[in-house]
Amino acid sequence: MDKLLIEGGTPLSGEVAVSGAKNAALPIICACLLAGEPLHLSNVPKLNDISTMLRLIAQMGVSVTPDGEDGLVLDSRGLDNPTAPYDMVKTMRASILVLGPLVARHGEARVSLPGGCAIGARPVEQHIKGLQAMGAEIDVENGYIHARASRLKGARIVTDMVTVTGTENLMMAAVLADGETVIENAAREPEVVDLANCLIAMGARISGAGTDAIRIEGVERLLQGARHAIMPDRIETGTYLCAAAATAGNIRLTRTSAAYLDSVLQKLREAGCELDSDADSITLMAPPRLKAVSVRTAPYPAFPTDMQAQFMAINCVAEGSASIRETIFENRFMHAVELIRLGADIKIDASNALVTGVRHLDGAAVMATDLRASASLVIAGLVARGETLIERIYHLDRGYERIDQKLTQLGARVSRVR
Ligand code: EPU
Repeated sequence: MDKLLIEGGTPLSGEVAVSGAKNAALPIICACLLAGEPLHLSNVPKLNDISTMLRLIAQMGVSVTPDGEDGLVLDSRGLDNPTAPYDMVKTMRASILVLGPLVARHGEARVSLPGGCAIGARPVEQHIKGLQAMGAEIDVENGYIHARASRLKGARIVTDMVTVTGTENLMMAAVLADGETVIENAAREPEVVDLANCLIAMGARISGAGTDAIRIEGVERLLQGARHAIMPDRIETGTYLCAAAATAGNIRLTRTSAAYLDSVLQKLREAGCELDSDADSITLMAPPRLKAVSVRTAPYPAFPTDMQAQFMAINCVAEGSASIRETIFENRFMHAVELIRLGADIKIDASNALVTGVRHLDGAAVMATDLRASASLVIAGLVARGETLIERIYHLDRGYERIDQKLTQLGARVSRVR
């Protein structure tokens, strides 16, 4: 199994391009299930989660054809097996995103119920309740969600909590339903908006994406083909900014946008970084030592849970103390114990962590536990004195395209070892 060996202590500098957003690409790939013509995507990141999603739809009968450097053509006309088997769903929870489009398109879907996950229980009852409100008959049997509907009907759905993939699943289902659906308490994440924009380009009638009430007027026929470029990955962007901030570096990220990162950029400024941005790039200049900054995670546009671990890492070496409050997932502090192995001072009390900055971290062998936890260990390893060996980096490869190469491009001493 691959490991990442990092020789810490080099400030990051230079320029690197950000990839397309994993969490936008995943639902947008599923949107092809709603179309009667090929969907052409570009800026699709090469990530393990994306390959898993493509294998999943391919075994359903969708034809998947690479198109140039970062493009894909997805043609679902051959769809004949509306099933997401346990073997695939257990490796990637986002597989649940096929449920809504499959019932809408095929009238039936069998999707393995995702189990728990390293960061929390992550149930999917909101996805199920929403589809039931649209008239789907749903049974959970033998570990599978079995959903049927001759044609879904528009409904008013108020989700119990803000759920990103729940909003996306229901929005996709509603696109072919009979009549109007309103999703209230909808997720406002930019990835939801990117999916809506792609669906609109395919002929869907959606308004309000990016607000907490999304209105979808169902259309009679399958959607048409379209061309869509996946938005830049705001979490990859934020992760590289944190890595540069922690190492007292100076970097420029291209093919990205500051527009989706207000809360993160504000915290980096509070920490003492200078930031500059134009239409498609962000530049960060870090001070010699950061000031500790407290964060509290919450749905967009507040501070993202997917940046919590990275901010814990930068606070480990900052001046002063900061509190990190996680409100989205109940078990998303697993990186803390690994950071402590590198010499960090972190006290955990339920969903609160108190981090007191130390002058130095020292390299050690650490274990990646989930995607963003792994990113925090990379940041800590880049700052630590000596060598840090991160095990189980398959987690990183799920969500960060060519991370070792991109960090090397920024001057870090990083290598992939077996
Ligand atoms: N929830 C329920 N019931 C549901 C749905 C959600 O209780 O039916 C709870 C979850 O357990 C969680 C909260 O609601 O406590 C919010 O979860 P949400 O549904 O928004 O998470 P998700 O859609 O499963 C997406 C991202 C995650 C990101 C979260 C929060 C994708 C593919 N995944 O997950 O990304 O952390 O939103 O922003 O979009 C990552 O990329 O590393 C990652 C975990």
